[in-house]
Amino acid sequence: MTWNEITQRAHAPYSGRMEACIVVGKSGMAYPGVRIENSSFPLSIHAEQAALGFCLSSGDVPNALIYQKRNEESYFWEKELSVPIIETNDIHAMQFASGTEIFDNDDVYLNLQVLSSRAQCQYSNFRVAALLETESGYVPGVNIEFSDWQRGLCAERVAISRAISSGVIIGSKINIYANKGDFISPCGGCRQVMIEHLPQGVVSLHHPNNSLSTYRTKDLLPYAFTSLTQ
Ligand code: THU
Repeated sequence: MTWNEITQRAHAPYSGRMEACIVVGKSGMAYPGVRIENSSFPLSIHAEQAALGFCLSSGDVPNALIYQKRNEESYFWEKELSVPIIETNDIHAMQFASGTEIFDNDDVYLNLQVLSSRAQCQYSNFRVAALLETESGYVPGVNIEFSDWQRGLCAERVAISRAISSGVIIGSKINIYANKGDFISPCGGCRQVMIEHLPQGVVSLHHPNNSLSTYRTKDLLPYAFTSLTQ
């Protein structure tokens, strides 16, 4: 893998800033992350958020943050994560994690429940898990929270950014689970991101009592704003 290959996965149709970084986990595995812009400015995802979501949703712990060239955003994460920041061109020997994950059983509800234990939700104490179905398999996501609330990401956006960052072609169905409440419902931010990346997709909501509701993404955000990415 080269920086160029990873950077090409960035989705930056507005600014053209094709940015990438890599989080190396305590396991030694490398988790790439790319910048993913959204037509609604603040829903854009930093490369660091994508890479951290990839690492944490794999059940790993960040141990280093790698850049080809560090940027302004890296200073926040250096402080937040207390991990070394390394600048290097040479990443060919790294072992990159797979965007998809193989689960021991085929019960989506059970897999979502198990996955939700990886959520990093020390502020809300609300665990969410997502499983994006793609042609290459399931791409997992969990919600991740940081001391700066704005830099957290929902489980749905972690799964979507993990697929994009790892080069997996996004499928057309996403499963969502949360461990509290009667009826699971994705937030407005995720609805906007889902309409941009799964425009013809379906969202399956797995409620805590194991009941299921399924909607088309376009029905979850009527009259959605879409622009040059559609
Ligand atoms: N959360 C999700 O992961 N998905 C949603 O659709 C709604 C909210 C997370 C974000 C945060 O970590 C916690 O739930 C409480 O807002």
